[in-house]
Amino acid sequence: MSLKQQINPDKLPQHIAIIMDGNGRWAQKRGNNRVFGHQNGVAAVRDTVEAAAELGLGYLTLYAFSTENWMRPRTEIDALMSLLVSTINKETKTLQDNNIRLSAIGDINSLPKSVGKYLKKAIMDTKANTGLVLILALSYSSRWEITNAVKQIAERIEKGELKAENIDSNLFESFLNTAGIPEPELLIRTSGEYRISNFLLWQIAYSELYFSDTLWPDFRREHLYEAIISFQNRERRFGKTSSQIKNVNVNS
Ligand code: IPE
Ligand code: IPE
Ligand code: MG
Repeated sequence: MSLKQQINPDKLPQHIAIIMDGNGRWAQKRGNNRVFGHQNGVAAVRDTVEAAAELGLGYLTLYAFSTENWMRPRTEIDALMSLLVSTINKETKTLQDNNIRLSAIGDINSLPKSVGKYLKKAIMDTKANTGLVLILALSYSSRWEITNAVKQIAERIEKGELKAENIDSNLFESFLNTAGIPEPELLIRTSGEYRISNFLLWQIAYSELYFSDTLWPDFRREHLYEAIISFQNRERRFGKTSSQIKNVNVNS
């Protein structure tokens, strides 16, 4: 049975988030500069996105550039930003062909004007698509997002539009960039690093974590299938007992 056939279509996660890591190491292993790794990461993005759409996932969030990544050398940042522009332009057709709607989270206004412009255009061009929602996390970090949400809530309170006693987790979530997007059931990180690096801290409270040693430019649909199969073999308990989940004897 192929990996794809081992996936239970009735137990698919609705939302998968991926920390695409290891581009720099991939290039350096080949005696090349880090930017070469980013360039080769695009094929991994394409294959993963196509596979996600084909499987019928609802949402795929890709961590493409973090708030902290602004601290990288200027040349690497510039190369990443121009790669982003060319990829968005080149791949809009792939998005259309696969009925994918593009979206973004993060501090989009902090991106260079050209990136913002082409990103907004691709989001507009694909907004009627009804298949997979592809969410790019750009200039994103969870602490930035949460701090922003707190500020907006405080402003509402200052204006008398909201009372502190009415704050609950649903209200809080509605101020996050991901408002309206279901939480990822599965979070994948590539490149053998076991950390979250400021990604979706609130949203992954109960996500299943999957760490792959594969460096991002080598990541292909089979790796995604492996992660989904692993996810489908886990028992998600959300604080309850195993028997409660299995709905056998709830008292034991
Ligand atoms: C991930 O690869 C891409 C971005 C963070 C933009 P890295 O560039 O972090 O590659 P490594 O981790 O240094 O190998
Ligand atoms: C996380 O990767 C950010 C993205 C994949 C965009 P990093 O390579 O920036 O993370 P750290 O610095 O190793 O934690
Ligand atoms: Mg990295």
